[in-house]
Amino acid sequence: MSQAGFREDFLWGTATASYQVEGAVAEGGRTPSIWDTFAHTPGKVVHGHSGDRASDGYHRYKEDVALMKELGVGAYRFSVAWPRIFPSKMAKGAKPNPAGVDYYNRLIDELKASGIRPAVTLYHWDLPQYLEDEGGWRERDTAYRFAEYARACFEAFGDRVDLFITLNEPWCSTFLGHLEGVHAPGLRDRPAAYRVLHHLMLAHGLAVEAYRSTGASGQIGITLNINTPRPATRRAEDVSAADRACDRDARMFLDPIFGRGYPSRHLKAYPEVAMPVEGDDLKKIGVKIDFIGLNYYTERAVAHDDHHPEHFRQVTTGYPTTDMGWDIVPDGLARQLLWVHRNYPVIPLYVTENGCAAADTLSDDGTRCHDGARIDYLRSHFRALKKAVALGVDLRGYFLWSFVDNFEWAQGYTKRFGIVYCDYTDQRRIPKDSFYYYREVIAGHEE
Ligand code: FCB
Repeated sequence: MSQAGFREDFLWGTATASYQVEGAVAEGGRTPSIWDTFAHTPGKVVHGHSGDRASDGYHRYKEDVALMKELGVGAYRFSVAWPRIFPSKMAKGAKPNPAGVDYYNRLIDELKASGIRPAVTLYHWDLPQYLEDEGGWRERDTAYRFAEYARACFEAFGDRVDLFITLNEPWCSTFLGHLEGVHAPGLRDRPAAYRVLHHLMLAHGLAVEAYRSTGASGQIGITLNINTPRPATRRAEDVSAADRACDRDARMFLDPIFGRGYPSRHLKAYPEVAMPVEGDDLKKIGVKIDFIGLNYYTERAVAHDDHHPEHFRQVTTGYPTTDMGWDIVPDGLARQLLWVHRNYPVIPLYVTENGCAAADTLSDDGTRCHDGARIDYLRSHFRALKKAVALGVDLRGYFLWSFVDNFEWAQGYTKRFGIVYCDYTDQRRIPKDSFYYYREVIAGHEE
């Protein structure tokens, strides 16, 4: 064991996503995604921030990979921007944009040369705007377009990438993007949201099928944020409220992935909703995958509530919070991993995101960033990981969110998640104390 309590081949990694770090939104032939449109719509993102420059990852990837090498990570999870690969409407059999493919090839080659394994997310929310103009994920056709785009990525990168993630957090695309309106494309339409959910799941299944058909021998899975809560009290009604709260956020995604279809108890709560399932969609969605990725930041507590259609409500806790206002609940990470382990057939799990936003500042001489609160957060979550592993969870790796400060969606640049500080005035990178702490963890010298 390189690090006590974990597998010998445990993968320590770090993560980012295209729109959050790349910038260069009009370079290499890239066209707008729904996030460019959303961010440039007044009132949608704090201070009118956008990913136009972000952390300039597109130009600074060599410097970033060099820092990752210094960090000692075994893997880097990044996402491919679909509108770099297919900047305009995809005619059948269309060739991907060479400049877009070239950028990711350079990044992948740089990683490989540094001994870092690329873990590639195909969709981290930047749908091409031209597809949104035709109905986006509300349209079934988008699932097929995604599978074509995915196939192009497998063909271009699959010789050097053996870890693919189809979708990142389809929950957010579905509910934050189409029900709550706080993420792109900013709709508030419940029936539309559930159409989106099904089309995302279908897109996932079709992409896995495309991956297998290339004969590739790597691994493919999906990343979910399943938000499993704990009951506010031990009372039976709160315990069953917490279970019902798993229906929408966890079972609506995990059940179809494991071939169980959508949970009917949840759908009954919303008679206006109809899942647009056709033919053998559920079989396609239930296609075998190699792992599940879970993103974990916090855990809610819920109580019974007769007035809610699903009979639960979130309660306030008084827990300490991060700069996002999210409760810090390390044991929730162990509980969530165990919940998946106990409720579904055993499958390798990765924590594909976990981390902490803090109001970081630089030291007076500008060379250090003392982010002790992030170190505390990480240390307590590593303990939770060990607990889960000791209880039998098949955990294969952990990706810290995030490598570098970046565009935090509707919060713009006001929230810093990086273990590397980004000075947005000149894009200078300054490793934070947590960077050095994580380096020691990876090396097996720290807990
Ligand atoms: C997750 C997203 C990721 C990042 C973190 C803080 O929901 O997948 O892009 O913004 O939250």
